[in-house]
Amino acid sequence: MFERLREDIQSVFHRDPAARNAFEVLTCYPGMHAIWLHRLSGWLWRKDLKWPARMVSNFGRWLTGIEIHPGAKVGRRFFIDHGMGIVIGETAEIGDDVTLYQGVTLGGTSWNKGKRHPTLESGVVVGAGAKVLGPFTVGAGAKVGSNAVVTKAVPAGATVVGIPGRIIVKSDDSEAEAKRKAMAEKIGFDAYGVSEDMPDPVAKAIGQLLDHLQAVDVRMEDMGKALKSLGCEYREKALPELHQEVFDCIKERSENKAAQD
Ligand SMILES: CC(C)(COP(=O)(O)OP(=O)(O)OC[C@H]1O[C@@H](n2cnc3c(N)ncnc32)[C@H](O)[C@@H]1OP(=O)(O)O)[C@@H](O)C(=O)NCCC(=O)NCCS
Repeated sequence: MFERLREDIQSVFHRDPAARNAFEVLTCYPGMHAIWLHRLSGWLWRKDLKWPARMVSNFGRWLTGIEIHPGAKVGRRFFIDHGMGIVIGETAEIGDDVTLYQGVTLGGTSWNKGKRHPTLESGVVVGAGAKVLGPFTVGAGAKVGSNAVVTKAVPAGATVVGIPGRIIVKSDDSEAEAKRKAMAEKIGFDAYGVSEDMPDPVAKAIGQLLDHLQAVDVRMEDMGKALKSLGCEYREKALPELHQEVFDCIKERSENKAAQD
């Protein structure tokens, strides 16, 4: 028990530069008080003592302004900064090292029983006032911007902002970029100048076309293999050549545009 308490206190030091010492954390952090009371209410809930569990949860709400349903599953080193106005629903699941700020709702959008609240995987951070609504998963390490309203699954490592939530950083960006490069090399020109970072819409459009081309290429190869395995006469044709000058021109345009911006 003391081990868990020490771990809780350490998690505050890691995530709140304002925390000065253990006594201050023990006495002045409502987020901690809410979590400790939730451990008690959750234990009562699992022992099928539903009403006492709800009473403890409600007491925690009076004390801290943080409402955690006793049925909610919470991982280790959960940190609620400031607290107040937080609601965590019955079927919400929270992984390890998750951080919530004040005014967050992990809520449902239906009155049906069963899973109706979100699952936050490890390391998720939900900014002040954000609402995450529905039985979907927010992937590990994702960030939800303050005041966002999220109603769809969020991939691991992504950042979501706004209403409705839109992703501004995707963890598989580098993977997409690598695929795009591989495709560009395959068809015979350097992909330089068509990266996602380029502000030029033409360059962006070409980037998207490369993605599409790559997906079509994979599909065609699979179909070719399938035809061969069925004994069909199938001969691969060489791809038509592309001319580097065309892409050099695009690259030049992108660079000029970036310099002007
Ligand atoms: C979402 C968040 C994690 C993004 O942080 P980041 O990865 O450093 O991203 P940036 O600050 O570089 O912003 C990237 C873009 O998203 C926009 N953005 C950032 N946070 C936003 C938000 N909450 N709502 C809408 N847009 C937001 C920025 O304006 C920027 O837009 P641009 O590219 O058009 O200029 C952060 O802004 C946030 O909201 N954190 C929550 C913090 C919090 O609640 N603190 C409470 C302390 S009491």
